[in-house]
Amino acid sequence: MTGFSPSGERFGITVTSFNSLSLDPPLILWSLGREGGSFACFQAGTPFAVNVLSAGQKDLAERFARVGIPKFAGVAIEEGLDGTPLISGASAYFECVVEARYPGGDHDIIVGRVRRLFNIGKDPLLFYRGALRPLV
Ligand SMILES: Cc1cc2nc3c(=O)[nH]c(=O)nc-3n(C[C@H](O)[C@H](O)[C@H](O)COP(=O)(O)O)c2cc1C
Repeated sequence: MTGFSPSGERFGITVTSFNSLSLDPPLILWSLGREGGSFACFQAGTPFAVNVLSAGQKDLAERFARVGIPKFAGVAIEEGLDGTPLISGASAYFECVVEARYPGGDHDIIVGRVRRLFNIGKDPLLFYRGALRPLV
């Protein structure tokens, strides 16, 4: 997930909890950990993007899972709707706004309304049996 914090800083976070929710209207959901630095982000109405990383982007998945580093240093990005950073070379992008947010134990459930979708068609990166791997 990529977007902007309430103070206007770019942020990015690796997640695997991404899922489809609704076709009409087009909604997706994922869960945001309470302990993470991004917990204050994703208030209702906030734009953000789902970047489905491609098979060769394991290093970026690891980078965006780390705490306290400048996550975007040296990362090629393009600007999406409202200037939302989109990570270049990804497999697909869902450009969203936060539709709703619900408590869910030690995470919050973030519901995003999809405004625009790009399917680039590259093979995706998977998280399977505890490791980041290509499809084959
Ligand atoms: C494979 C993988 C999947 C993850 N999935 C999630 C997730 O679904 N939700 C979440 O909040 N954090 C998830 N994380 C952890 C965040 O990426 C990590 O806590 C990150 O540092 C948070 O960034 P922040 O502290 O800048 O918010 C995952 C990490 C990895 C390596």
